Amino acid sequence: MKIEWSISEKELLQQIGNCAAQVGVQAYVVGGFVRDKLLQGKSKDMDIMCLGSGIQLAETVKATCFPHAFLTVYKNFGTALLKTSDFEIEFVGARKESYRTDSRKPIVEEGTLKDDLSRRDFTINALAVAINPNQFGEFIDLFNGVSDLENKIIRTPLEPSTTFSDDPLRMLRAVRFATRLHFKIDPETFEAIRKNAHRIAIISQERITDELNKIIATVQPSKGFKWLDESGLLQLIFPEFVKLKGAEYIDGRGHKDNFYHTLQVLDNICTSTNDLWLRWAAILHDIAKPATKRYDPAIGWTFHGHEVVGARMVNQLFKRLKLPLDEKLRFVQKMVFLHLRPISLTKDNITDSAIRRLLFEAGEHVEDLMLLCEADITSKNRQKVIRYLENFELVKSRMKAVEEKDHLRNWQPPVSGELIMSTFGIPPSKVVGLIKDEIREQILDGKIGNTPEEAIALMHQLGQLHGLNPVLKNH
Ligand code: CTP
Repeated sequence: MKIEWSISEKELLQQIGNCAAQVGVQAYVVGGFVRDKLLQGKSKDMDIMCLGSGIQLAETVKATCFPHAFLTVYKNFGTALLKTSDFEIEFVGARKESYRTDSRKPIVEEGTLKDDLSRRDFTINALAVAINPNQFGEFIDLFNGVSDLENKIIRTPLEPSTTFSDDPLRMLRAVRFATRLHFKIDPETFEAIRKNAHRIAIISQERITDELNKIIATVQPSKGFKWLDESGLLQLIFPEFVKLKGAEYIDGRGHKDNFYHTLQVLDNICTSTNDLWLRWAAILHDIAKPATKRYDPAIGWTFHGHEVVGARMVNQLFKRLKLPLDEKLRFVQKMVFLHLRPISLTKDNITDSAIRRLLFEAGEHVEDLMLLCEADITSKNRQKVIRYLENFELVKSRMKAVEEKDHLRNWQPPVSGELIMSTFGIPPSKVVGLIKDEIREQILDGKIGNTPEEAIALMHQLGQLHGLNPVLKNH
């Protein structure tokens, strides 16, 4: 096996190899960089492993080749990270590790090339290429990683239970790599994930969520979620999602299986956006269906208010999953809260005022909301899908027309609280809010036009109704 390095990669590897020879150690490029190269991919993250001190090699590389690059040394881990303008290079000494059962913190000892490669997660990540001048380019594949790459298989180099109990995060990494690369997980490896799933408990939430996000960022995340589910991992890391599973029947009437529906919505939205948070909105749009499910003999299954309860659940979930509690949370909540709105507008009630309200509430995220709604149309009944899509197109074109006419995108009502206070010479008080809300409502309802003149006239009328008189201003 010969790898075709780019000129800059070859130059860099040769420079590091020369430093390794100078220090008197054998060095190899390993892991994801080699894997991605064989898969014709590109990576900026490079892992260099050497038989000796990784830190010493890193310091030599910095001093000799990149005096201005940034070097961070992690003494406790025996690793060092060098940031050049083109690459992030991690240096580590070969090791053999054994892990305690209750922690990811390994007991590290120096090891041979084989010790090091065998303790890596998957055969496709255990490939190495020698970079010292005397053996530059020599390819090392001790665990048939190339054949697994060709056959698209995720497999552990050692007996899988050993690899996973060394580091249970690798169970999620297996699912992530299989999903991202469109690979299969070797049956024995998968069986070991099933058996060891409970050990995910020793992994920090941040690392778990990081892997989950990487699965969600793939082209077809449903594949990963199905593996997570089959292995038992999903129940442990995201039980609310598993609760969506199943279709219940009463009097011969059933509802759709919201687990598979949600996965389809997620895959659908992935065809139109790479935005992680819109993808999360797809995952969570129906999350409160199990909690709000009722059977009414007159109308069948209902999930009334699932968008309201769902928006509240998003908050709790983001906290538990250690997702950001900033505007990303608020965005996902807003999407979940509004996800029924566009499609609930039927031909008869697509009034300008309903459209204006939707534009106002969705604000700058109206396009994202429409993408989510479109992705949500998944019925098996073709006629239903056609009807929904037609209606959806109608809502979209009406939105465009109202938008062009009223310019409601990112709209702020033309009368502010400050203007009301200064006009009537009053301090902040309840009446200010009442007047402001009424003006906004009347504009949204189309009772007055969306112009400052009409809004100010209404402000004066409403002021009078509340017994307020404008203060005279000296000019
Ligand atoms: N590795 C491992 N077990 C882990 C994490 C990493 O054995 N839990 C090894 C693998 O050999 C991996 C290398 O360390 O290839 C580098 O790890 P990392 O940078 O996390 O992953 P990459 O394989 O480079 O892939 P990506 O950057 O896409 O995450």
